[in-house]
Amino acid sequence: MQTKIFPVSPESLAEAKKIIFDGGVIGMPTETVYGLGGNAFDDSAVKRIFEVKGRPNDNPLIAHVHTDYDLAKIIDYDPPYAKKLREAFLPGPLTLVYPSTGKVSPYVSCGLNTLAVRVPSHKGAQAFLREVDIPIVAPSANISKHVSPTSAAHVYEDFEGKIPLILDGGECEGGIESTVCDVTGDIPVVLRPGLITCEMIAQVVGDCAQYVPDLHSGEKVKSPGLLYKHYSPRCQTALFAAAETAEAVAYCAEQSSLGKKVAILCEDGAKSAFAGYEILNLGSSENEMAARLYSLLREAEKRCDVLVAIEPKKTDGVMIGVLNRLRKACVSVDIPHK
Ligand code: TXA
Ligand code: MG
Repeated sequence: MQTKIFPVSPESLAEAKKIIFDGGVIGMPTETVYGLGGNAFDDSAVKRIFEVKGRPNDNPLIAHVHTDYDLAKIIDYDPPYAKKLREAFLPGPLTLVYPSTGKVSPYVSCGLNTLAVRVPSHKGAQAFLREVDIPIVAPSANISKHVSPTSAAHVYEDFEGKIPLILDGGECEGGIESTVCDVTGDIPVVLRPGLITCEMIAQVVGDCAQYVPDLHSGEKVKSPGLLYKHYSPRCQTALFAAAETAEAVAYCAEQSSLGKKVAILCEDGAKSAFAGYEILNLGSSENEMAARLYSLLREAEKRCDVLVAIEPKKTDGVMIGVLNRLRKACVSVDIPHK
């Protein structure tokens, strides 16, 4: 199969619509990362997404809709605070998890009794969702565990020959996936940190909890995607805390002496300690670091044998999401899933 990359236009949207209603999947832009989209009502399209991504079949998908889509078509329970969150943050990088009503394919939620719904703000995503006027399930458009894609070229790297079309909407401005927030209980609970932080949510509705999975308790994890090694470049990786510069420098010297090409991923303020090494510069502000993280991880696998990542100093706000991705990308041990 030939994989075409077309900018978003009336012609490419018409072609995308045809593929979707024929049960196919396409690459689509959003403001966070690119998605691999298919018809949420079509069992075989949903199964195809899991298959082409190599995604574990216990990790549920997010349904994407346009701003005027009538949510009552897919959810019924809607607490007043969820409405406030939609008014404050949508369209945008916030996914809300509602009790499911069984309207979309059962394969979307992988046996959970909830459905995650997102309204992306990206203009191209909105145009596509309006064109099809159905919920589109879309995980990040990367092969499972690989680095998430922030450009059409990244999607092509992972899915050339496997999907017919990628809608090119330019580089993603956000850079890390949406905040996933459960709204099935009395207060919102952030399951996956992102650009909309717990503090921002609490400011709007008065309260917000951050879910921290206890990997050792045997508790059923609320958002299964949290468990896996993820977002990883295909090269050797090592991760050091912001205060471990001396250890990181020693490690770089050791790896270089073994003949390996070393690159350093760090914030702008930390780079001076690594003179002589290739620097993959995350920048300075938290939004800049979020926007650059994935494309730099993809650069790393092309340009070095060993990626040495130094955690940025700031650890709150948006950095909770950035650090969450960076740590999972660079852990050397995979946590097996059931
Ligand atoms: O920004 C994003 O959200 C991107 C773009 C393409 O929209 N999509 C994305 O999808 O990141 P994916 O499939 O890579 O990640 C979805 C996350 C996973 O961690 C999954 O476990 C969680 O959302 N999730 C999906 N449905 C859920 C549900 N019903 N309950 C709890 N967590 C859910
Ligand atoms: Mg993903």
